[in-house]
Amino acid sequence: MNVHATALAKAHQFDQQTSAFAGDVIDDLSQHPKRLSPKYFYDAAGSELFEQITLLPEYYPTRTELGILRDRGGEIADITPKGAALVEFGAGATTKVRLLLERCEFAAYVPVDISGDFLNAQADALRKDFPSLEVHPVAADFTAPFALPADIAGRPKVGFFPGSTLGNFEPHEACGFLRRAREILGDGARMIIGVDLEKNERVLYDAYNDAAGVTARFNLNVLVRINRELGGNFDISAFMHRSIYNRERYRIEMHLISKKAQNVRVLGRSFSFRPGESIHTESSYKYSLERFTALARGTGWKVEESWTDPAKMFSVHALAASD
Ligand code: AVJ
Repeated sequence: MNVHATALAKAHQFDQQTSAFAGDVIDDLSQHPKRLSPKYFYDAAGSELFEQITLLPEYYPTRTELGILRDRGGEIADITPKGAALVEFGAGATTKVRLLLERCEFAAYVPVDISGDFLNAQADALRKDFPSLEVHPVAADFTAPFALPADIAGRPKVGFFPGSTLGNFEPHEACGFLRRAREILGDGARMIIGVDLEKNERVLYDAYNDAAGVTARFNLNVLVRINRELGGNFDISAFMHRSIYNRERYRIEMHLISKKAQNVRVLGRSFSFRPGESIHTESSYKYSLERFTALARGTGWKVEESWTDPAKMFSVHALAASD
């Protein structure tokens, strides 16, 4: 966070999380080109919109990954040490983790997420449904270093990073994340990770430009959140959603495009927009099996197994700590 943003956040008496949001927004809207981090999509409204996205006919990743986890649950159980702790990086809906908990004999589950309230509600539901499972939620930003609870110190660790959330990272950040996860999980660790695959561009385009406009609302919601939490004055109707596939970089890019020349104020700062100017709000990288394997190599993991659906839309990999 820059000095100016820190001072502003202090003047507004924000809690720690809102200060981090304030600092990032001021910094990121001051960049050329302007950008915002996709991690701020997920307030209550954004999380609800994302749940709606996962049910859209065009959005294949969630249902495809669930199918792979369901079909390969036995194989995943075979490589899972008994009595292990399952550490999930980012914990949204529990649908996917429930599939693993039903098939594998985990002793403990450690969901790690910035949103503490949501985390505790989900933890209570899991304790009820899996009475012998220890649940130890950790409220932390998993893109930064954090400590695992002492309760699971003696247990083998299995990381879980579904949903192709890895695709939100730049490739060098993805390497950094995998290396840190390897350090946090320790020697002998395993990791189950979901990665979206490169495919027909039309299919990719449609998945991020759904006919019902839910993705557009999800994207625009970050401006609603800035208005509410940071006292911004974005005119939501003066911006539009755009998603494109960037073929050279193998990534979907989501943008918010200013429909006209305008000034917007956030935390006492003014940001001017040209007509057609973009805020880059998200990148969603797509990997081939080869490019993912190459990425994981050199981060302290080796790819033990890679599973895909028959149409090769999505992949789930089992990694094993290699050093
Ligand atoms: C949660 C990051 C995997 O990139 O597909 C869905 C988020 N953005 N539609 C994705 C998202 C627009 C999603 N991830």
